[in-house]
Amino acid sequence: MQEQPLLDVKELKTHFHTERGRMTAVDGISFQVNVGEIVGVVGESGCGKSVTSQSILRLLDEKNTAAYEGEILFKGTNLLKLSDSEMRNIRGNDIAMIFQDPLSSLNPVYTIGYQIAETILLHQDVSKKEAYARAVEMLRITGIPAPEKRVNEFPHQLSGGMQQRVMIAIALSCLPQLLIADEPTTALDVTIQAQIIELIEELNRKHGMGVLFITHDLGVVAELCTRVVVMYLGQIVEEATVEDLFTQPLHPYTKGLMKSIPHLDGDKSEKLHVIKGMVPTLNNVPKGCRFAPRCLYADELCLEKAPDLTEYRKGQKVRCWHAERIVLEEEGQYA
Ligand SMILES: Nc1ncnc2c1ncn2[C@@H]1O[C@H](COP(=O)(O)OP(=O)(O)OP(=O)(O)O)[C@@H](O)[C@H]1O
Ligand SMILES: [Mg+2]
Repeated sequence: MQEQPLLDVKELKTHFHTERGRMTAVDGISFQVNVGEIVGVVGESGCGKSVTSQSILRLLDEKNTAAYEGEILFKGTNLLKLSDSEMRNIRGNDIAMIFQDPLSSLNPVYTIGYQIAETILLHQDVSKKEAYARAVEMLRITGIPAPEKRVNEFPHQLSGGMQQRVMIAIALSCLPQLLIADEPTTALDVTIQAQIIELIEELNRKHGMGVLFITHDLGVVAELCTRVVVMYLGQIVEEATVEDLFTQPLHPYTKGLMKSIPHLDGDKSEKLHVIKGMVPTLNNVPKGCRFAPRCLYADELCLEKAPDLTEYRKGQKVRCWHAERIVLEEEGQYA
């Protein structure tokens, strides 16, 4: 029998009620994160990566704007069915999240030691003194120099990279079983970025923490993840192991993303390939395949009828009418 996935998202839809009517930012996505696995989520800006991660932790405003459909099973429990207090207990305890922008999530009026200790105290039965000692330890683990001193400083006294490490220290201070990292390194310089990725890898290896890693950066995906989900306009268009995705991407959109990676050893004069056209807005979703208006391979069928996400081969799914034909054509070209 296969082990139960840590996270099992089933046909999740997230709707927003806006002045312009109902918008479905996440439209029927299904994917899993297994224990000890690092799954990447990629896709252009606005495709629904952050809404997906916020939905998993139910951080959106359910009273006024957001509504969910589907199931989000965490170790078999549907998070969408939990009460507010049950959900609060899951957040930062079983599931932790690192946000896109560290400054907006740290409280400027409290020392970082207080903020980490507060998280620990909220979820674990320890004394204040122990919580502070643990906070210092977390800062040390996240690579902050002189943690005994830094623990008494305020967020603004730290550089962006340090703040991000504090966020990570907070997120990891309760040793979550699942970490959701939403572009945790975009604002950081490459050295710090590499260190943080190393740290996430280490915690994954040592503690078997499952990770959902959201990023624009396919280089990071190649380095860190075992499996990848590619999103386009609120849907999954491809899912594959990292090896399959990089050796044989199937969806024309994924192929476009791959070509947009600058190659260090490549011809410098080669133009950066950018996928033509704009992502349509949510209130103007194409009738057929959502990618068709930008796709080199699109024909009448694509414009008329939306394809389903189907298994192309074991472990690789694609939402494209012509995946098979495109593969055959490409193979023909190289024969
Ligand atoms: N609170 C909200 N109310 C209405 N629409 C929203 C809300 N939050 C996000 N959206 C819309 O949902 C869509 C998906 O946004 P999301 O932030 O998930 O994109 P993203 O993939 O994370 O992009 P980026 O790479 O820029 O972070 C966008 O069209 C966005 O405008
Ligand atoms: Mg985002």
